[in-house]
Amino acid sequence: MSILQNKKVLIGITGSIAAYKIPMLIRLLIKEGAEVKVIVTKGAEQFVTKELLAVLSNNTVITGFYSSDGLWDNHVHWGLWADVFLIAPASANTISKLANGYCDNQLTAIYLSARCPVLVSPAMDLDMFKHFAVQNNLRNLENHGVQVIQPESGPLASGLVGEGRMPEPETLLQVLSDFFEKNAALKDKIVLITSGASMEAIDPVRYITNHSTGKMGAAIAETCANLGAKVIYVHGLQAVKIQNKNVKNIAVESAEDMYNAVHTYFESSDIAIMAAAVADYKPKDVAKEKIKKHAEDLQIDLVKTKDILFSLGQIKKENQILVGFALETENQLENAKTKLIKKKADLIVLNTTKVEGAGFGHDTNQIIILDKNNNTYNFELKSKLDVAKDIVQFI
Ligand code: CTP
Repeated sequence: MSILQNKKVLIGITGSIAAYKIPMLIRLLIKEGAEVKVIVTKGAEQFVTKELLAVLSNNTVITGFYSSDGLWDNHVHWGLWADVFLIAPASANTISKLANGYCDNQLTAIYLSARCPVLVSPAMDLDMFKHFAVQNNLRNLENHGVQVIQPESGPLASGLVGEGRMPEPETLLQVLSDFFEKNAALKDKIVLITSGASMEAIDPVRYITNHSTGKMGAAIAETCANLGAKVIYVHGLQAVKIQNKNVKNIAVESAEDMYNAVHTYFESSDIAIMAAAVADYKPKDVAKEKIKKHAEDLQIDLVKTKDILFSLGQIKKENQILVGFALETENQLENAKTKLIKKKADLIVLNTTKVEGAGFGHDTNQIIILDKNNNTYNFELKSKLDVAKDIVQFI
């Protein structure tokens, strides 16, 4: 999943020939799963049509202070809606307005009221760009936290060659990805996750397992990775596959394998989320050859597996967060509380099994989170991805 997935990107276009590059940037952002809203100044409308921008962004385009029916259009809330505000291309005129608090159009009004980070991509002729007034304005913006995207050097619309070209759409896309990576909430954190079902061998061809599909654990892994974490994803049998550059996939079979893999990585982890459905018992002896069909009855002796979550609770350091899951069919809250204490977890995520659409195999889930201070937090039935976001947000 792209880091830009579901990110809200507000783009302000001003009057510069480089505006022709923005429709392509919008296409790229939409392809990455971002939501895009566009504001154009009067000058920008000379270069790109709002009809084109509306179609590409799947959104109406903000133009003036008044909407088409002549009513006052309070678009200031778009500055609250956005995760980032990119002003590209930013003309010398707009840069001057931004640096000095002018508020004579919708773009500058939204800029002054925006609470999200702002990125400015200047585009102008080389001598204009070098001018002390423009440079002072840009330094002023930078000193107040605005990220200025350095223009590139090359042929300019004036026929001159030099610094002042707005970067290509692909480069701007990369700047936005880098921005979200850099500001990610779990940047530099290592998150260890178990997921899926364990497999306990009976003989060379048979095993004991359960109905877990690993969808919940995978959604948590993707969510953490998209927030900048390095994820160690130790999984058993699962119906899904994760391909994310921030996720290291480690496939295991038995509870014993999972235990060993988890203990290899736990010490260096900041957060451990044990979402796997691990067998509590395994066959005492694994038959070397396939068990043949002879007697009417067959007994298989089972012995307890190692409880991974419990073992981590014993060695967990103060600065590590340990999260367990519970799936109960009776006395749900009480059993989950007991589990939290016994396993020394910081949080237990209780899967409610009595709700239609929640639990194994479904794409939706409903959870209750219990913490060490005896608090319980109820969540609604949601997609597993949204449940994952709730869990990670809570952590
Ligand atoms: N768990 C684990 N290792 C095991 C068994 C369970 O790490 N061998 C973890 C699960 O990943 C989950 C939590 O423990 O986070 C709860 O698992 P569960 O099987 O419900 O709890 P148990 O302690 O086995 O209790 P019971 O079977 O009585 O409900």
